[in-house]
Amino acid sequence: MAAEPRSVQHVSDRSGQSDGSGVSIVAMRRRHLRAVTVIEQAVNPHPWSLNLFSGELRMPSSRIWFTAIEGNDVLGFSGLMVTHDEAHITNIAVHPDHHRRGIGSRLLLALFNAGVEAGVMDVTLEVRASNGAAQAMYSAFGFAPGGIRRDYYQDNSEDAVIMWANDIGSRAEVDRRAAIRDRLLPDPKVDPDAR
Ligand SMILES: CC(C)(COP(=O)(O)OP(=O)(O)OC[C@H]1O[C@@H](n2cnc3c(N)ncnc32)[C@H](O)[C@@H]1OP(=O)(O)O)[C@@H](O)C(=O)NCCC(=O)NCCS
Repeated sequence: MAAEPRSVQHVSDRSGQSDGSGVSIVAMRRRHLRAVTVIEQAVNPHPWSLNLFSGELRMPSSRIWFTAIEGNDVLGFSGLMVTHDEAHITNIAVHPDHHRRGIGSRLLLALFNAGVEAGVMDVTLEVRASNGAAQAMYSAFGFAPGGIRRDYYQDNSEDAVIMWANDIGSRAEVDRRAAIRDRLLPDPKVDPDAR
């Protein structure tokens, strides 16, 4: 039998500072969930339910969730499932009115930082074959295609591309993400998503 996943409960709110644009990346809370499901329904043809998100927050030993907030508004979210030294990005989305502001990248940075802190080495995900926007974002973070799951999505039987980012704690990968962070957050005094 497999051992229990390494605890990730120490993941803190240290990412919860703003970059000056007003957007902060913070640990997801129950109070965010209604807005999270509104975003989910706007972007996902087969949306996760509030109950599903709620259940995720009840598994803090293996799940890491972040929310992007601006003032009182929830603009996006991202989630990671950690199993030993491997992790799976389970969901990530940004409100359609706020795409292309770097919020998705910051949510990913936060997942990577928390994953490295929890001992993760390799990260995987599935993405719709037609989802070029997400695949471009993932490629920038070092993900590469590793296979196809045929007919993976129930709503339209679309194939999923399986992507992997390996050895995420290596110098090269840390530097890659530092360059993304520096581009998004050029003020060196502010390091909102770093740990
Ligand atoms: C994928 C998603 C989370 C990206 O969020 P975002 O906040 O717009 O992303 P960013 O602004 O950080 O963009 C990061 C990079 O992704 C790529 N990208 C994002 N949107 C793109 C688009 N519409 N077309 C092409 N490339 C795009 C670009 O390379 C971009 O970098 P650039 O702006 O410097 O060119 C967002 O499009 C979304 O919520 N989509 C619906 C849900 C979804 O598809 N989730 C992924 C499931 S696997």
